[in-house]
Order: sequence, then structure tokens, then C-alpha cells
Amino acid sequence: MQKDEFNTKIGAIAAAAGSAVGLGNIWRFPYVLGENGGAAFLLVYIGFTLLIAMPVLLTELSIGRMAGTSVIAAYKKLAPRRKWYLIGVGGVICAFFILSFYNIVSGWTLLYAYKSLVGDLQGLSEAEITASFEATSGNTLVCFGWMLAVIAITVFIIAHGVKKGIERYSIVLMPLLLVLIIVICVFSLSLDGAERGLEFMLRPDFSKLTPKAVFAALGQSFFSMSIGMGCMTTYGAYIKKKQNLSKSAISVALIDFFVSFTAGLMIFPCAFAFGINPGSGPGLVFVTLPNIFNQMVMGRVFSILFFALLVIAALTSSISLYEVLTSFFKDHFSISRKRASVFVALATIVTGALCAFSATAFNFFDNFTANVLMPLGALFILLFVPCCLGKEKIRAELEAHGKPMRWFGLYYFLVKFIIPALILLIFVNSIMSWLGINWL
Ligand code: PHE
Repeated sequence: MQKDEFNTKIGAIAAAAGSAVGLGNIWRFPYVLGENGGAAFLLVYIGFTLLIAMPVLLTELSIGRMAGTSVIAAYKKLAPRRKWYLIGVGGVICAFFILSFYNIVSGWTLLYAYKSLVGDLQGLSEAEITASFEATSGNTLVCFGWMLAVIAITVFIIAHGVKKGIERYSIVLMPLLLVLIIVICVFSLSLDGAERGLEFMLRPDFSKLTPKAVFAALGQSFFSMSIGMGCMTTYGAYIKKKQNLSKSAISVALIDFFVSFTAGLMIFPCAFAFGINPGSGPGLVFVTLPNIFNQMVMGRVFSILFFALLVIAALTSSISLYEVLTSFFKDHFSISRKRASVFVALATIVTGALCAFSATAFNFFDNFTANVLMPLGALFILLFVPCCLGKEKIRAELEAHGKPMRWFGLYYFLVKFIIPALILLIFVNSIMSWLGINWL
């Protein structure tokens, strides 16, 4: 990826949004919200997005733009002779763990696009749709095979330099996915019994707000915005100095939130209308949506389009994860980008196989990355600002476009004190509740 080609061909913001919007919004957000009680979780999630995730995103973009390099090199450049580059190493490990289960879910999505195409899901009852997903996700060979197909497509895209092409198309295709979600949403809301889904998502019941739910909301806000592991630092390096970073961070966060929110509005009314348990876990999207498609006019066309576009959304996110990994291997072992991407693919096949084989491994990678590695990564990224950069340097970067940042005081206060304290508090609280100690 060369700096200038990125600048002229596609806005860095669109690329950052492409990384942020993915399975995290449409597959993960609804299932985590469903498992954690609905509306109360949503409120906390919104709070964390505004108060924690957005400032972290802004910080990552600034550090990336300041250094102008990918993540490990960025910390080495900004803090030579110190160990801060370990943030980048943590990011590489995190990207690798995420890809391990992400590729499996992308594989399911590709399989569902195929199933829709050949009409495999047509006319099935709710019970049959659920059974069909269980058979798919419980079959190691099927999961592994479709994961291999997804990895092959990704490596093809990266190795043949069509990545730029994909990014260019995604500028058109991602808004199309959003339009499709909105159409499905309208249909879902018109189903009998949809109100109960709406109520689940929008009327908070605070008794459901357990420490685990708060912890999950924090993790989801990090996962969804691709922060805390260096991805966004890399994108920051491609943003021009004259661009207003705060505006960029707000746009990415808003787009990301909007997609998740509408995905929820699409899933829950439908889940309740068809009597599907909203807490049924990672299969939620795959067991609810085929029911709507079976009732919609031209449902099969909608189904093919939806899953195919979701594969593309997943690809733009996983390509950004590959980017973190390939640039690490390329620089660290002085090998070509092609070799590095093949090496990364082989490594993710091994850990992906583990996730295909065991649901426990899948859940571990899913929860450990979002809930532990990413918030911890963010904690160190934030500490880097007062410890290494200092107030004036970060201010200069945030105001490099030539206008003072009105909210700088608040931003700096959040970054220096509030967010690190909140992350630690949420961690301690969940450890305590896990140990059965009620201390708050
Ligand atoms: N944010 C992406 C999604 O929502 C996942 C992702 C996480 C991508 C971390 C890159 C880095 O699907």
C-alpha cells in the first residue's frame, strides 16, 4: 500500500470505515446485545462508544498520522529506545487471534450466500433453519472448507494487488448493504410480534445489566471500531495533514454505530416474530434472517445480495487485519509482501482449524480478543500520550489542519484520566464478579 495511491484513489476515512464496518456490526453486535439483555446493554454501549471508543480512535489516528508508518514502526519512531513498540506486538497477536475466528464466520456467510443462490434455504420452517445452521456450525469439515475458500479469496485479493479495486468498489457496495439492511429492517418491523423485539432493544431493563454485560459492551465497542490493536494507527498514516482528524474519527464512529443499530433493528423484531431466543449466541443472524427472506417478495434475491455484500464487508475488515500481520512479517523478517501474506494465511489456517474443530476455541478467541486484548491495548495506547508524547505534541497533531480543537481540554482529560480509570474499573469489576465478590 503506497501512501499517495491511497490518498488519491480512496479517502482514508472510507478505508477506515471499511475496516470498522464488518461482521462485528451485523453478526457480533446483535448476538452480544441479545445475550446481554437488550436495551440496557445498548445504552451502555452508546456511552462507551462516545466516551471511550471515539477518543481512543482519535488517539490512534493521531499517533499513526504523526509517525506516518505502520504500527510497530510508529512506536519505535516516536519513542526510540523504549519498549512502547510492544503495543504493536500485542496488536499483531490480537489481529492473528481475531482472524482465526473471523475467517470462520466469513466462511459461514459465504456458505449462506451460496445456499441462497442454489435455493437451499427456501421454504424451510424456523426449526429447519435453526437445525441447518447447527449442522453447519457443528460440522468441522464444512466450517474448515468454507474458511479455506474465504482465505483463498483474501490472499488472492492481497497478492494480486486488487485490494485497491475492492476498496473502490466497497465505496459503492457498502452503502448498498446499508440500504438493503434498511429495507429488511422495514419488513422485519412490519411482522406480527415485531413490537416485542423493538421493546427488547429499546426499553431498558437495568436489572439485566450485569458486570458481564458491561464488560461485553466495552469489548464490543472496541471490536466494532477496530481499535486497541493498531489497525487504525496504520490508517492514520494515510490521512493528510490538512484533514480534520476529529471530524474523521466522529464520521467513522457514527457510520459504525449506525450500521450496528440498524442491524439490531433488523434482527430483533424478526427474532421475536419467529419465536427465536435473542440470546441464542453466534448463530443469531443465520437463524433469524432466512425466515424473513422466506416471507419477502423476491426474498431469494434479497438473501443472495445480503449475504454476498456481507462477505465483502467482512473482506474489507479482514484485509485490514491481514495488513497488520503482513507488514509485520514483511518488515521483521525482510521477506516480500507476497510471501508474508502466504505465511499469514498458513498460520491462520492452523488456528482457524482449531476454531472450526472446537466451539470452545472459537468462543475463547472471540471473547479474549474483544474483551481483553483490545481494551488492554487501548489502555497502553492512551498511556503513551501523556507518558511519551505530551500534551502539546498531540494537540499539534490534532490541530494540524490549521484550526484549534474546541474540545481538546475535554479530550485530553478523558485520555489521561477518565478512560484508563474506566477500563481498569471495568476489568477489576468483572474479575471480582467472576470470583463471586460483589464489591460495587
Ligand atoms: N471492526 C471489524 C468488524 O466490525 C473487525 C475488526 C477488528 C477489524 C479489529 C480490524 C481490526 O467487523
